[in-house]
Amino acid sequence: MYLEYFNLAEKPFSTSPDPRFFYLSAQHREAIAKTEYAVTERLGLSVVYGDVGTGKTTISRRLLQQFRDEHKFNAVLLTHPAYPSENQLLRAICQEFRIGKSAKAKLDLLNLFQAYLINEWRQGHRPVLIIDEAQTLKPPLLELLRQLLNFETNTEKLLQVVLFGQNELRDRLDRKPNLKSRVAMWGALTTLTREDTEAMLRFRYQVAGGGSLPLAPAALERVYRYARGVPRTTCIICDNALLKTFLAGAKVVVEAVVDTVYEEMSGPVVQPHETKIGLLRKQEQEVLHG
Ligand SMILES: Nc1ncnc2c1ncn2[C@@H]1O[C@H](COP(=O)(O)OP(=O)(O)OP(=O)(O)O)[C@@H](O)[C@H]1O
Ligand SMILES: [Mg+2]
Repeated sequence: MYLEYFNLAEKPFSTSPDPRFFYLSAQHREAIAKTEYAVTERLGLSVVYGDVGTGKTTISRRLLQQFRDEHKFNAVLLTHPAYPSENQLLRAICQEFRIGKSAKAKLDLLNLFQAYLINEWRQGHRPVLIIDEAQTLKPPLLELLRQLLNFETNTEKLLQVVLFGQNELRDRLDRKPNLKSRVAMWGALTTLTREDTEAMLRFRYQVAGGGSLPLAPAALERVYRYARGVPRTTCIICDNALLKTFLAGAKVVVEAVVDTVYEEMSGPVVQPHETKIGLLRKQEQEVLHG
């Protein structure tokens, strides 16, 4: 809607997990490097967990793309892994890897999968199973992953598994010590700093074909204060703020616009110089005296 108005080729603050818009903050870079390392060194299992909306799904897609571009890897991504039973999850995994054959009994499925892994290994291929939303995996499904990770030669794991999930994933793994002890690399994602928030916004605006970011410095401060470094919330606030600025016929997003956007999202804003009680008194006075 506002694309032409701001001379943009595409939406800069869409919330879809498009790897092209991914800004590499130090923590994101580290999480990617750890998972790449675990997979290329065939360490078996690596885990990236973190706060809601901090980039886990986007990294999982980026890794998938990256591994698919390299011929020796055979990477698949499961985005909704919470299957009702182990067999269903195992069948889904076999399907993703295009194993072709299937079976009813778990043992037969496991045998099929093992034969596939050995065959891939002989051909120098490296199967990589990436699972997003791994915090939804119930204990029996985690147990199945442990079994799959057991397929190994004397020196290497035949299957590489990368799990992405919200912080709850850590708790789930705490309750499965025999799987947890196999995690060779841990990556953690949390909120962005003020500097990274700004750098991410500038980066995304440029990828979208825009020039310099049309946000006044005070507006940027407000975005950071309200989104508290959560990338998804940051993007949603900025998308709304650009639209409002366009509708008002202005060219630069000012702080009042960001305040309004945030109020629409979350109710009235308390400014730092106003205590909650102070704000209530002010509103009371306004009601009394018009
Ligand atoms: N480093 C980043 N650079 C640019 N955009 C980012 C970054 N991290 C997250 N985002 C954006 O934030 C939004 C949420 O990202 P994503 O869906 O990957 O988060 P998530 O951690 O998987 O969230 P959830 O916990 O809800 O599954 C997306 O629009 C994504 O593009
Ligand atoms: Mg996600």
